[in-house]
Formats: sequence, C-alpha cells, structure tokens
Amino acid sequence: MLDIIPRIKLANLPTPLQEMKNLAYSLDMKSLWIKRDDLTGISFGGNKTRKLEYVMGDALEAGADTLVTVGAIQSNHCRQTAAAAAQVGLRCILLLAGEEPEDYTGNLLLDRLFGAEIQFFPDDDFMGLSDRIGSVIETLKELGLSPYGIPPGAFMPVGCLGYVQAMLELKEQCEETGLRPMKILHPVGTGGTLAGMIIGAKLAELEADIIGISVLHDAKTIIERVREMILRMFDEYPALIDKFEPEIKVDERFMGKGYGLMEDGVRSAIQMFAKSQGIVLDPVYTAKAGLALLRMVMSGEIASDATTIFWHTGGSPALFKYGSELLDS
Ligand SMILES: Cc1ncc(COP(=O)(O)O)c(C=O)c1O
Repeated sequence: MLDIIPRIKLANLPTPLQEMKNLAYSLDMKSLWIKRDDLTGISFGGNKTRKLEYVMGDALEAGADTLVTVGAIQSNHCRQTAAAAAQVGLRCILLLAGEEPEDYTGNLLLDRLFGAEIQFFPDDDFMGLSDRIGSVIETLKELGLSPYGIPPGAFMPVGCLGYVQAMLELKEQCEETGLRPMKILHPVGTGGTLAGMIIGAKLAELEADIIGISVLHDAKTIIERVREMILRMFDEYPALIDKFEPEIKVDERFMGKGYGLMEDGVRSAIQMFAKSQGIVLDPVYTAKAGLALLRMVMSGEIASDATTIFWHTGGSPALFKYGSELLDS
C-alpha cells in the first residue's frame, strides 16, 4: 500500500518482536512484549531510521546533495541522519543546540565519525533551532548546492510514513504469533512516531491503545501537534489514507524534572530492564517510557492480563554520557 512512495533501504526490517518473560514474571503480567526498534540497524538503530527511509527517498527524488537538520547535542535523530547521509553519499550539516563540549561522546562522537559538518548554537533550544534551517538552506542554494531540510526528529508527513509502515509490519507479526496487543507504549518527543502509529494502526486494523509517554512537552501540546500532523498526512496522502477522527493518548506524568536528566525512577527502569532482560534503555527517552510501563502495571492502570507491547525506540549511544550517574543509587 505504501509501495508507491519513494523509499531507500536503511533499516533491518522487520525488527524483532520479543516476549519479555522475566520482566512479565516480576510484574505478574501475563503477556509482555518488546518491539526492538533499537535494532533497526544503522549506527546503533532507533526510530529515526524508519522515518529516514522515506525522508531520504524524498530527498534523493528531489535531487538533493546535502541534508540539513537540527537537534540537541546528544540527538539520536542527528546521529542516524549523519549515518544515513554517509551511507548514501550525501553531505550532512547538523545544527546542534548547546555549547561545543570538550569531550565528544555518545551520539556527538558518532556524528563526527560519520563526517557530518556540525555547527553549535549555545543560546538556542533544539526546537527553536529549526527556524535556522531556512537561512542555511538559502546560503547553500546560493553556493550552487541542492540542500534538503529535515525538521527536528524528522517531524514531517513523509517521515511519519515510517511508522505507518511499522504498524503494518507489527500487524503481520501479530498474525504470525497470534498476539492481540491491547496496549502499546512508546516515548514521545516531537510526536511524529505517534502520528504515524495512529494512522498505521487504523490501516492495519490494530485495535490496541497506543499510549505516547511524553519526555518533554505537556500532553495538550503534543496532542495538538499530533492531530495537526495527522491532518497534514490526510492532505498529503489522500490515496493512501481515508480521513478518520484520531484518538490521541499522551501521558505527561513521566517527564520528571526535565529533558535528559537522570533521576531515581529513570535509573531504576534502566537497571530493571537491563538486569531482567538484558535490554538497554536510554535515560532521555526509553527509560521514561519504561518507568511509565512499570508504574502503570504496578498501580493496576494496565491490567495484569492486558497484552502489552513496549516499543523500544533506540537511543542507546546517549547512555554512555551518563556513566557514573547511572550506577549511583
Ligand atoms: C530514542 C528516541 N525515542 C523516541 C523519540 C521520540 O520520537 P518522536 O520525535 O517521533 O516523538 C526520539 C526522538 O528523538 C528518540 O531519539
């Protein structure tokens, strides 16, 4: 159904759908699963790789020779974009919010290795930085280049198609295993993954509750953004998607004290997934969704017999920035 849209192959798909029996046992749950988008492949994986398959397809079709995108210093999106650009042979310019650190670690180290050209903006936050993409694009055009701008987190209709496709993939895996998921949890930054999942679930006729765990913005803001993105996708892809009234569920209770801050709950979630399942969560995104899962099950908000999928969206390179903080307890 999505076959008519330009796309390049970057990810190893389908990503595994695995049962987390040990964690389920600890939580007294009947059926707990994990969708391993931390294993999408390119440069330590993550959710942006699925989005970039379509974004890069679009960029190449438009004749682009240079990608320009923005993010936080430890942006997983920027790291995956830099790796994808290297793989395809495009130039990549990253505008990063924050001071240039003395040590290049985690995602930033990888950005450099992939040959991305990095500019630092100490006074901007990464969402605000997206306004700068336009002027960089203009300058590059004046130099005779063909640049292609990607907003933070590839939050654009063509990027969200990656998660429409992901839900069709999940549907096939559910059919093979006989699984009927009732809850699907994942971390939310921009909301692009959630927008794609909601449309994909509709197309795939998956009836699970899709719950986005916000790591950064209040639920109202994210719900508005996701609704807007879904409407843009209806307009952009009328032949693929029939309009419907989306139900958008976002939980803002697990943002903690701020973006990327290590706290007790986040640390416990990382330790619990690691010790019980050998699965690595990152402190910025997936550990917050992991914490949400643990708390919701323990409080009974997610019933012990509700088949649940935790969607791992990647982010592991950022973990190495937290070393000692992670082990303190
Ligand atoms: C590991 C990880 N999980 C989740 C997200 C959030 O995805 P989205 O921006 O599509 O909501 C990001 C975004 O940067 C991420 O890096």
